[in-house]
Amino acid sequence: MDKLVIEGGTPLKGRVRVSGSKNAALPILMAAILLDSPVTYTNVPRLRDINTTLKLLNILGMETSFEDGAAVVKPGAGLNPEAPYDLVKTMRASVLCLGPLLARLGEARVALPGGCAIGARPVNLHLTALEKMGAQFDLDSGYIEGKADRLRGAKILFDQVTVGGTENLLMAAALAEGETILENAAREPEIMDLAEFLNACGARITGHGSPVIRIEGVESLSGCEYAIMPDRIEAGTYLVAAAMTDGDLLLENCPMGALDAVCSKLREMGVSIEEAEGGLVRARRGGELACMDVTTRPYPGFPTDMQAQLMALMCVSSGAGTIRETIFENRFMHVQELVRLGAKITVTSQSAFVRGVPRLTGAPVMASDLRASASLVVAGLAAKGTTEVARIYHLDRGYEAMEVKLQALGARITRAKE
Ligand code: EPZ
Repeated sequence: MDKLVIEGGTPLKGRVRVSGSKNAALPILMAAILLDSPVTYTNVPRLRDINTTLKLLNILGMETSFEDGAAVVKPGAGLNPEAPYDLVKTMRASVLCLGPLLARLGEARVALPGGCAIGARPVNLHLTALEKMGAQFDLDSGYIEGKADRLRGAKILFDQVTVGGTENLLMAAALAEGETILENAAREPEIMDLAEFLNACGARITGHGSPVIRIEGVESLSGCEYAIMPDRIEAGTYLVAAAMTDGDLLLENCPMGALDAVCSKLREMGVSIEEAEGGLVRARRGGELACMDVTTRPYPGFPTDMQAQLMALMCVSSGAGTIRETIFENRFMHVQELVRLGAKITVTSQSAFVRGVPRLTGAPVMASDLRASASLVVAGLAAKGTTEVARIYHLDRGYEAMEVKLQALGARITRAKE
């Protein structure tokens, strides 16, 4: 397994391009299952999870190619309804093939995704909603067996906001008979990107980005050419890195429209974030940083995927602050690793109390999940001395060539074998 070796203390300076969004690309690639002709995607990030998704589409019977950030997916001779466990266990988002398979094929056999480091992450809300559209499910030997003659439009109220559940239902409803209304739908920018993609293929979706989405089912959907939106979480991570290292970064392709809550909180802490000419965004420390309280919420609230990175920034800010995690039940795995770097954090149930320290000190630490890895990398960039982040296969799932981008910004960071 690989690790990252970081010599901290160098301010990051220069220009970094934000890659395409992992969490937009995954459902949008899965939606190729719905199409009756080839589709070309551009601005696709080069990530492990993207490779896994393309492998799954191959297993389901589709032809795929991926080079220079462009992916092409073509319908094959026929669709295979089974997403096998040995692939699903490496990427929970594989469950996003369920809705498209039921809509396109009338059947699906998808391994039940296990939990992961940050929580149990059940898919009950996906199944209940699809049942309202006429799907029938059995759980057999760890597989979700689904059948549906033809999905029928329905009015669906989600008990709680679910990004994946909203995405599965958007894709299922696109080819269903009649109108589907999703209430208490997720409003994330990635949901909007998926809806825009489906509409570009001929779907009839309105209201995306609001809590009520209407989908008028159509008979078929055709391929198109579509550019994946930039990754707001990667962008947020670099905004934090600029502040943590007292650097001066210019972000290219930064989706400011999707970063209101993140920029508002960072600016409250003292980070300077300015929109510069040519669509660039300039990020610097901007003065003394101060801890602030933050609570993670569904969009447009502060994103849970930025919680670990913000915590790292608070570790080296003045004063103290409380971070409340309301989306996942176990998303503080980075806390004990940050404590190894000298951070002062105490966790009580779903809250972490952070008291800033003048400087972190490098040490060997271990990544536990994708965003925890990013938090440890940015902490290592600011720490005095050497930090080694082990198990960075977690990082490779969601950050395109992070150490290469950081090296170009002056960071002393290298990839090595553990
Ligand atoms: C998506 O996960 C993202 N993943 C996550 O990003 C992100 O943290 C999450 O949305 C919240 O924004 C992708 O887009 C691939 P949910 P998802 O369904 O869809 C519970 C990252 O770091 N729930 O909105 O799985 C669930 O357990 C990843 O890029 C049910 O109880 O999130 C969680 O507590 C991590 N039953 C909460 O809802 C269900 O049927 C939110 O989950 C579905 C969800």
